[in-house]
Amino acid sequence: MPTLFDPFTLKGVTLRNRIAASPMCQYMAVEGIPNDWHHVHLASLARGGAGLVIAEATAVSPEGRITPGCTGLWSDGQAEAFAPIVRSIEAAGAVPGIQLGHAGRKASANRPWEGDDHIPQGDPRGWETLSPSAIAFGGGLPKTPRAMTQEDIVRVREDFVAAAKRAREADFRWLVLHFAHGYLAQSFFSVHANQRDDTYGGSAENRGRFLVETLAAVREVWPEDRPLTARFGVIEFDGRDEETLAESIELVRRFKAHGLDFIDVSMGFSTPTANIPWAPGFIAPFAERVRREAGLPGSTSWNITNASQADHLIREGKVDVVMIGKALLADPHWPYAAARTLGVNRASWVLPAPYAHWLERYRTA
Ligand SMILES: Cc1cc2nc3c(=O)[nH]c(=O)nc-3n(C[C@H](O)[C@H](O)[C@H](O)COP(=O)(O)O)c2cc1C
Repeated sequence: MPTLFDPFTLKGVTLRNRIAASPMCQYMAVEGIPNDWHHVHLASLARGGAGLVIAEATAVSPEGRITPGCTGLWSDGQAEAFAPIVRSIEAAGAVPGIQLGHAGRKASANRPWEGDDHIPQGDPRGWETLSPSAIAFGGGLPKTPRAMTQEDIVRVREDFVAAAKRAREADFRWLVLHFAHGYLAQSFFSVHANQRDDTYGGSAENRGRFLVETLAAVREVWPEDRPLTARFGVIEFDGRDEETLAESIELVRRFKAHGLDFIDVSMGFSTPTANIPWAPGFIAPFAERVRREAGLPGSTSWNITNASQADHLIREGKVDVVMIGKALLADPHWPYAAARTLGVNRASWVLPAPYAHWLERYRTA
């Protein structure tokens, strides 16, 4: 079995190790355009040694942003602003990835440190939200979305395609479709959000249709040699868990049949009343099951915070890559520290040559 510091190859892409910087919204963009903040943030994660650095949930259309500060790829100017960031990630030895999403009924929110709730009705900073059905999420996100028409569904799917083309042109090598966390795609799949009576609602097959169609359309424009992946919430912790898991695994099999290369297993977050059993690495057993039963390489995140825990998940074959979130915010050099903890003494497995050369030569750090 490989270890955390063995390379991982998928299609034409090789990660120098199996640590990925999980996508993390920064809420610092203006009109969806990434800037110096994003550049320093993402390049630091690459410089710190992650094998894969995934840029935050980037909206495929203006109304698909979670907050007014979220990045977007609905314009060529946004793609041009991402291009030098992509080059910096690559220069530091990491593979540049990006997550594309649409926030659905959770869109039009304040930044987390400014409330994390919906922007009030009538406030010019907010906008109309879209979802499969006119059902509000609830809690701090009380705004009732507009139920999407068939035309809306086609338009949003094409927005995903156009954004994927821009991600391709900006030279991202790894694409993540955001099918998780209660945003638009997850809402189509979720019984909490989708009560449609057309071909996009009802049965699990119908609830998965928007996701499958979007994936298939993106696959047409995303190069064959670059991994097409999805982050998908396979469980809601709402008491319906076995059923949701079984439906989710079946849907991941359909994703695979339509060209998905890799699955990042996460939670649904489709209801504010979920009873989530927070614990170290608690999603990993579900990731292992999805990976095995759907027959796709995969990853997971959530409370993976130390080196031996991450290494075990890889060695035991539970996942192929670990996604690290908050631990990398606390310390962008987490991968290098992990290598030292695990006794990996080839710094080049985690650091770019201008650093690795000297550290290996003198073994001073
Ligand atoms: C500041 C912040 C922003 C996040 N933004 C995103 C995002 O854009 N897309 C996404 O899929 N998950 C997002 N997440 C979830 C993380 O990618 C990750 O899955 C989660 O934090 C669990 O991993 P951790 O326990 O290592 O932090 C975010 C998490 C944080 C803390």
